[in-house]
Amino acid sequence: MLEIMKTALFCHFLLFTARFTEITGAAVKSVVSFSPNWTPVSAEDSVTLICNVAPTAQGNLRYSWYRNGHRIPGDHQSLVIRSASVSDNGYYQCQAGAKERSDSVILNIRTDWLILQAPPAVYEGDTLSLRCHSRPEYDTRNTVFYKDNKTIESPVSESELHIGRVDVTATGTYKCEKEIKYKSNYHTNSATQSIVVSELFSYPQIKVSSDLVTEGDHMTITCDTKLSPHRETTELQFVFYRNGHNVQGFSLSNQYGVPSAQLEDSGNYTCEVQTSSNSVRKRSNMTQIQLKKLFSTQIKVSPDEVTEGDHMTITCDTKLSPHRETTELQFVFYRNGHNVQGFSLSNQYGVPSAQLEDSGKYTCEVQTSTGSVRKRSTLTDIQIQELFSYPQIKLSLNPVIRDHPQIKVIPDQVTEGDHMTITCDTKLSPHRETTELQFVFYRNGHNVQGFSLSNQYGVPSAHLEDSGNYTCEVQTTTGSVRKRSNVTHIPMQGRCQIMLQLNLFRLILSSLVFIWTVGLLYYDIKTRGTTGHLKNRGH
Ligand SMILES: *[C@@H]1O[C@H](CO)[C@@H](O)[C@H](O)[C@H]1NC(C)=O
Ligand SMILES: *[C@@H]1O[C@H](CO)[C@@H](O)[C@H](O)[C@H]1NC(C)=O
Ligand SMILES: *[C@@H]1O[C@H](CO)[C@@H](O)[C@H](O)[C@H]1NC(C)=O
Ligand SMILES: *[C@@H]1O[C@H](CO)[C@@H](O)[C@H](O)[C@H]1NC(C)=O
Ligand SMILES: *[C@@H]1O[C@H](CO)[C@@H](O)[C@H](O)[C@H]1NC(C)=O
Repeated sequence: MLEIMKTALFCHFLLFTARFTEITGAAVKSVVSFSPNWTPVSAEDSVTLICNVAPTAQGNLRYSWYRNGHRIPGDHQSLVIRSASVSDNGYYQCQAGAKERSDSVILNIRTDWLILQAPPAVYEGDTLSLRCHSRPEYDTRNTVFYKDNKTIESPVSESELHIGRVDVTATGTYKCEKEIKYKSNYHTNSATQSIVVSELFSYPQIKVSSDLVTEGDHMTITCDTKLSPHRETTELQFVFYRNGHNVQGFSLSNQYGVPSAQLEDSGNYTCEVQTSSNSVRKRSNMTQIQLKKLFSTQIKVSPDEVTEGDHMTITCDTKLSPHRETTELQFVFYRNGHNVQGFSLSNQYGVPSAQLEDSGKYTCEVQTSTGSVRKRSTLTDIQIQELFSYPQIKLSLNPVIRDHPQIKVIPDQVTEGDHMTITCDTKLSPHRETTELQFVFYRNGHNVQGFSLSNQYGVPSAHLEDSGNYTCEVQTTTGSVRKRSNVTHIPMQGRCQIMLQLNLFRLILSSLVFIWTVGLLYYDIKTRGTTGHLKNRGH
């Protein structure tokens, strides 16, 4: 989505620059030049004036020539002056078809013995040659050139000095000296000429589409320079740098566009302009561009400390730049990297009744509806505090047969008839000690005591059916927090079992007593019988 947006904006930008170039192209005027390209011109020499038009504008154009503003004969692109005379002096202009007239050029015809010739207009990057010209019918020797009264050491051939590529520092007063032979003697002559080397194009300046670029805006950086009017058709190339790194290199566009500018696009920008032949190259001063934040964002949790069952609100607190307060924003919330509430216009994520599982590391993300700017908050670690601990089943007994020391009572084992109390044990958080809790008891999954404020389930006299797997559940009165204990198995030993043990003991005891009694009786009878017999004999 974001990519499509960027591409669309970029295409729009290209169209815009194309239109821009067209407009500037239409404004180019014709320019008059000389061939040979020297001024002044010596009388009796021939010179051709050429009407230069933009290459695209050529073809079957009719040309007109003007001297001092008046139409003169000639309807070709070239105006040939065969043997120049002082009367040809003047300001010349040409016109191609119905186009605007060219700027004037001065044709300067001189009758001096010696003239210093130079191109009528010199621009930085041009290769400059000077000519110390005298009438060809006289012999000459020892040509010397000076610049600002200093001899130029470069070799001179055929009265010409080739200085090579120049920049504006070549501007100055030039002089040439030459010995000319007439009346069989050599005479030293000199000629001076001031030469101005003009800027081909001005030093570029960085211009930004807006004084204050805000994140997400379309930012256009222009490398602004102006070509000299006489060289308007020169092709220039542009390079853009941010913090010294090339961001857009050698293109014909003087603009660097960022469809959706981000804070990272801030920096120190410079641009460089050069002619395609690289004869002139200029770099702009540095311009610091600082993008303004569209918004800043921060994650906030309320309340400061969340306890289970609380209503928790996480806010993606966002502050929009004052001028962009109506920008529509979308919000996303994440817990431990997983989306919990996605792309909505609400900057809040609410949990009506927070549970322990809602603990985690939260972040929020904010973006504009077009996705042009997207930011993520820092992480915030939210730990939900326990309202009350997990309940545990606790058993307490009040056995009925504790007074029989002979009978071993297994602890936590209930015996029929015992008074049994099951407690659902839990502990409230110290800050929430007044919270009202409700308790439910289950045996083998069936409710045996439901939703009461008592954490105890009492059985005054336990029966076998009271044994089983017990669990209890605790909840707040609103049901916002609910916890269930683990299963506790409560076994039961039958009372008759114990009675049986007791009766067996009694049986054995009574049997022993019986055997002992019977034995005693038998002995008594036997003893008594023997004594009686003796007694009878004794009668
Ligand atoms: C060159 O010398 C002439 C004559 O001495 C003087 O008038 C002129 O100011 C000098 N030019 C420069 C640029 O020094
Ligand atoms: C940009 O230029 C300013 C001042 O010229 C300088 O303080 C700053 O460090 C530069 N920034 C970068 C990223 O180079
Ligand atoms: C570049 O900076 C220098 C020094 O601050 C200043 O003199 C010059 O005019 C600036 N050039 C442009 C093109 O702004
Ligand atoms: C109680 O739980 C134990 C093990 O957890 C299971 O073996 C037994 O069958 C359960 N008793 C009843 C009556 O559900
Ligand atoms: C419940 O049983 C599990 C597994 O036996 C044990 O890890 C946990 O601590 C028990 N919970 C309580 C509250 O006793």
